[in-house]
Amino acid sequence: MDIQWYPGHMAKAKRQIRENLKLIDVVIELVDARIPISSSNPEVDDLINGKKKIVVLNKSDLADPEINKLWEKHYKKANQPYVFVDAISGKGLKELIATVKTTMKPVLDRDKAKGRLNRQIRCLILGIPNVGKSTLINSISGRASTKTGNKPGVTKANQWIKVSNEIQLLDTPGILWPKFDDETIGLKLAWIGSIKDTIYDREEAALKLLEFLRSAYPNVIYDRYKVEFDENTTALELMESIARKRNYVIRGGEIDYSRTAEMLMDEIKKTTLGKVSFEWPEVD
Ligand code: G4P
Repeated sequence: MDIQWYPGHMAKAKRQIRENLKLIDVVIELVDARIPISSSNPEVDDLINGKKKIVVLNKSDLADPEINKLWEKHYKKANQPYVFVDAISGKGLKELIATVKTTMKPVLDRDKAKGRLNRQIRCLILGIPNVGKSTLINSISGRASTKTGNKPGVTKANQWIKVSNEIQLLDTPGILWPKFDDETIGLKLAWIGSIKDTIYDREEAALKLLEFLRSAYPNVIYDRYKVEFDENTTALELMESIARKRNYVIRGGEIDYSRTAEMLMDEIKKTTLGKVSFEWPEVD
């Protein structure tokens, strides 16, 4: 997957999203549950300019359930409507529909009081590439024809998917861009497999991954690679132990760093290492 965002792309994406927002009551911002902040675009709130927003944490099946609980607390405390979803299995969709209704209830009640009955709630899904927008739309619509690729903004002629008697969803998502403000955002997007491995240094990303796992999920390393380490073991030493264990060596007994890094990045992306989350809210 190629993420190349140029100022022109971004301006066009923003323009298209603003255009579509005129038709919309509720914005469903899709993020990856393993990195809800890094997979969100910090400009989204400015962009949607006061429209109601629901944060949908997709791929929750891949995220650490304990960390999911912390995010739940965080969004509750912030009074931000949120739902955990697994767009492939459809888990969480009922909750999403219920949340759309509760979020819009005050508006619908006001409309009702003015005599405007049978008002439809119109929703738009927004998110950065690869968070699962097409999968979610397909899951909701039960169709397999909404794959849109990674074109920015909403490009096709709009069609509305009937979600329920009261709710309609725009069939084409708004595509935002990730914000590579700080180095860790790119790394986290690489770890979840959201950016192409040609645009980052795989060995460095794998070393940083080991550094992260060593402190946040030491058992994951023990369980999968059966190597010994302690707090003084560097990420490089850890990588070398893993390589030796796997016999990833080249002529002369030298470590094959490239192959080891490829294996590590592949296993974290495919979640062979288990349910891992890469960021969590600050807790008291
Ligand atoms: P996008 O429209 O936001 O760009 O994302 P899309 O739906 O294409 O989904 C990206 C990848 O994420 C797809 O995998 C899709 O199957 C997977 N996916 C979406 N939702 C979920 C979910 O809730 N749980 C899990 N486990 N996976 C999900 P893919 O086509 O195999 O792409 P990739 O593996 O090359 O990224």
